[in-house]
Amino acid sequence: MRVVLLLICCITAIIAVQKMPLEIRQAWLKAAEPDFSVCVASSGVDSIVAYNAIAKNEIPNDSALKCFLNCIQQRANLMNSVGELLEDEFVRVLKGVTPAIAKKCVAQTQNETDICKKSFEMFLCMVYALGKPYPPLTH
Ligand SMILES: *[C@@H]1O[C@H](CO)[C@@H](O)[C@H](O)[C@H]1NC(C)=O
Ligand SMILES: *[C@@H]1O[C@H](CO)[C@@H](O)[C@H](O)[C@H]1NC(C)=O
Repeated sequence: MRVVLLLICCITAIIAVQKMPLEIRQAWLKAAEPDFSVCVASSGVDSIVAYNAIAKNEIPNDSALKCFLNCIQQRANLMNSVGELLEDEFVRVLKGVTPAIAKKCVAQTQNETDICKKSFEMFLCMVYALGKPYPPLTH
């Protein structure tokens, strides 16, 4: 088991090994859509990487992706002007996010001072809370 996890980690360089249900991923894409292009431009992220992070929960450790997610969260008013994540807004705006999930994930990220990393960790925390493990490797 440990060997398999190690292989997943290092070959794909994808951090998250959880995937949210399809209808939640689609709803999140829709929520991000109005700000998607602007945030790709401002963060410099590869648009495919940004798309796949939400659409497929393929989430690499990519600093531009972190700032893309921060841009989206700021523009959707999920983060306020002093860099605090707004628990109630996550529940209101993002399908599947319960008050308990929002509370836990905001608490987990509260000490992060880099706002891009903070947004990224919030995103990962929610994906893990809502996700199921990827299916086993087929090869
Ligand atoms: C992500 O990358 C940063 C800097 O490149 C590194 O310090 C950090 O440990 C990495 N995190 C993970 C989970 O791989
Ligand atoms: C945040 O920092 C406070 C004070 O240092 C600490 O008590 C708390 O456990 C930290 N929270 C997390 C999630 O690391």
